[in-house]
Amino acid sequence: MKVSVVGAGLVGATAAYAMTLRDSCSELVLTDKDEARAAAEAQDIAHASPISHGARVSSGPFAALEGSRVVIVAAGANQQVGESRLDLLQKNAAIFREIIPQVTQAAPDAVLLIATNPVDILTDLTVKLAPQSAVMGSGTVLDSARFRHLVAQRAGVDATHVHGYVLGEHGDSEVIAWSTATVAGLPVDDFMKARRLDWNAQIRSEIERGTRDAAAAIIGGKRATYYGIGAALARITERVLGDRRAVLTVSAPTPEFGVSLSLPRIVAAGGVTETVMPNLTDNEKTALEASAEVLRKAAASL
Ligand code: LAC
Repeated sequence: MKVSVVGAGLVGATAAYAMTLRDSCSELVLTDKDEARAAAEAQDIAHASPISHGARVSSGPFAALEGSRVVIVAAGANQQVGESRLDLLQKNAAIFREIIPQVTQAAPDAVLLIATNPVDILTDLTVKLAPQSAVMGSGTVLDSARFRHLVAQRAGVDATHVHGYVLGEHGDSEVIAWSTATVAGLPVDDFMKARRLDWNAQIRSEIERGTRDAAAAIIGGKRATYYGIGAALARITERVLGDRRAVLTVSAPTPEFGVSLSLPRIVAAGGVTETVMPNLTDNEKTALEASAEVLRKAAASL
């Protein structure tokens, strides 16, 4: 199955590389306004193909997207030191108004997976620009992974056996929903207490800060994030291609909040099939509404 990536920058190229190594799909096409960059990234990634699973990797113009089952859109500017994701809105919205019509013309049947920030608002904008397409954003899939990683470090177990969701904006107002956090099927507090592990409000606060501020910390050290988001995009794409009905906190239009944001969603071949609203605490519900308000205000500025 064919997947295309629009934007061969660090995020798009890393997502393509991750999919090559993970055998996510049989064909990958990269496109970018910088054709030489797209060609070079595709060629470099293609050299990993014989050593991994044999995916065909190439680059081309928008027309080369034809037949894609999923199109990942990672084109646009990324956060610089001191910038918020919302600071990128006007610049990247202008890019989306230019490229989304070209994407849907080339691949009208593809599921569109938005990665560019601010991903929630750009998911909403893409829905307006591509009303016939299935659209979702990477949302807080990455943030939920960061949260799970930090809890797993404290729990001393494999992070794939730690579950928990970050909800709302993929950004500063995101909600770390502790009520959804489990380790080995136990509520996280019960697991930590049963094993007499260090666990208290200060540690939980450190995990929240470490989750929320991860991108800023990484950008401060190496000017961009791309491995975590690249893997998240590969995982979401695989769940679409495999019609896996996986539960992922992708960003999608959410009528009860009037904006696209992240909630646990069932992801299958046609994109998001349904939303699974967790039983949140009153504080979490309040924080989620506040996050939605941040996004509604930003969306109103478009
Ligand atoms: C991050 C970018 C993808 O959170 O927004 O690393």
